[in-house]
Amino acid sequence: MKKRILLLNGPNLNWLGKREPTIYGNVSLSSIEEKMTQLCKSKDCELICFQSNSEGGLIDFLQKEHTADYVIINAGAYTHTSVALRDCFASLTIPFIEVHISNVYQRENFRHTSYLSPLAQGCLIGLGVEGYILALYKVFSDLNIASL
Ligand code: DQA
Repeated sequence: MKKRILLLNGPNLNWLGKREPTIYGNVSLSSIEEKMTQLCKSKDCELICFQSNSEGGLIDFLQKEHTADYVIINAGAYTHTSVALRDCFASLTIPFIEVHISNVYQRENFRHTSYLSPLAQGCLIGLGVEGYILALYKVFSDLNIASL
């Protein structure tokens, strides 16, 4: 059976490319999704992309797709606030990687706490949009699809 990988993005990440470009760069979310979809196709697995500006939207999607094999998530600001999203991951058995484009530890104190990190397989923080691609390579490796 084809492996199914979820790419989840939280609030305001639909505005990547035009949102605070000095922090988040010029690349749009759709071009990241396209690149990752191509990479997944080349490994014969499926990437399901979803973005929501609402906490409930992200949780509903995760519960609906609970049989997926892996999740890559940038939860945006919900990283720092959402007990509900944390509880959702705790109730599922899907491994996940947390991604942040910016180095949140170089920014405001309120960004230094993540409710998700303690449950994540690992975190890619401050590596720009390349962090998503690097996360995908780790997923390929963990799912025995490709290794370095
Ligand atoms: C972010 C960092 C968060 O603090 C912020 O709220 C975002 C984006 C990042 O990718 O750097 O929306 O997750």
